[in-house]
Amino acid sequence: MVIVGTRRVQTMSALPRNLLSANASVDADGHLRIAGLDALDLANEFGTPVFIYDEDDLRARAAAAVAAFGDQVAFASKSFLCKAMARLAHEEGMCIDVSTAGELHVVLAAGVPADRLVLHGNNKSNAELERALDVGVGRIIVDSNDEIDRLAEILETRPAVIPRVLIRVTPGVEAHTHEYVMTGQEDSKFGFSVASGAAADAIARLQAMSVDLVGIHAHIGSQIFRTIGFEQEVAVLADLVKGMDIEELCIGGGLGVAYVEHEEGPTMAQWGTTVKAAAAKAGVAADVRITAEPGRSIVAPAALTLYTVGTIKHLPGIRTYVAVDGGMSDNPRPVLYGSGYETFLPRSVDADRDLAVTLVGKHCESGDVIVRDAKVPTDIAVGDVIATPVTGAYGYSMASNYNKVPRPPVVFVKDGNARVVVRRETLDDLLSLDLG
Ligand code: LLP
Repeated sequence: MVIVGTRRVQTMSALPRNLLSANASVDADGHLRIAGLDALDLANEFGTPVFIYDEDDLRARAAAAVAAFGDQVAFASKSFLCKAMARLAHEEGMCIDVSTAGELHVVLAAGVPADRLVLHGNNKSNAELERALDVGVGRIIVDSNDEIDRLAEILETRPAVIPRVLIRVTPGVEAHTHEYVMTGQEDSKFGFSVASGAAADAIARLQAMSVDLVGIHAHIGSQIFRTIGFEQEVAVLADLVKGMDIEELCIGGGLGVAYVEHEEGPTMAQWGTTVKAAAAKAGVAADVRITAEPGRSIVAPAALTLYTVGTIKHLPGIRTYVAVDGGMSDNPRPVLYGSGYETFLPRSVDADRDLAVTLVGKHCESGDVIVRDAKVPTDIAVGDVIATPVTGAYGYSMASNYNKVPRPPVVFVKDGNARVVVRRETLDDLLSLDLG
């Protein structure tokens, strides 16, 4: 035990190395290097806050998804999207899942062929459906009866177009995860219920239309560690498609990743093996493609965020606040879901973290917490660069301009080189939509 102010804390260990990306290392000075580059130099060169992605780690994760599920596996672009990421996923052989006109626009702008895209959305507009049909999106995941009505109407004006569609169903499976990111249960805004017969009715409607019904899709949630939910999902889907001639069963995304000490998720290969075995056991024909849509597990562990410590406030007997130059605008997950993160000092990666603090941002509210129970080395000081690992998913993609804080840049590092793939927003960017 050590005594910190009036707070006694268990002696804290150094950051577990498994939370760092694949090409991270610690040099002789104890500094963090990513793809050979000193994290402190990166902070210096690009400023903070900054998202640093280990490009080869991203590539390896995308390649592992293709190895586990084949070349129809789709990267869920909602987890992190910019043109460089879309291109990378495409180059590594993945399809890309887009769920809005905006995601579709960015992925097409990256030069990814439309037939490698999968369009999602529980409330696709006519404009979104029309664009998808006109550019030739590879698969459309049909989500509701209203969407079927809209699709039928739009297809009347395009008699030559026969889209490939999957139908999204809710399998009635409750995944072990946060309620906000559970989607497979009956009470859901997504898809058609299997249990009520709505899914079977929708299948019949689509079979009578001029679409190519290639398969069934479900997504039970996100950040799931226990594969049992996926096995249950596959069993429900297998039952639904008995006697149907389909090419594909897509189990969605959801593979969990470790964010904090002692967490461990299944690997991509384990996930693939488990769901394929469940499909075979449930009697799914061997020629039916089992696909998936991982997002988080491709991008989360490959990145970290660097911040600079600006103020340290000791409240004897209460807590110590360490405030950084970002916060809920670049990582809203702790506020939204109570998500946990670790933190450490890149100047001293293996130092014991004996000081218990609360890592907060610079936004004007008390809820602006990044790590409630953070552990840091006792010599932490104003001016230190501090890192939160595993921030590659749903951080940049859910970032905001709250308090008119410009969004951080995104930097890809590989083989000793760093390139900015999304620049930092400027103060003038904050005025670019404002017509006065
Ligand atoms: N497929 C569908 C249809 C989805 O809705 C999602 C995620 C995925 C795939 C990818 O799931 P992943 O492999 O990333 O778990 N903002 C939340 C996560 C929301 C997930 C939304 N859908 C978070 O920060 O935890």
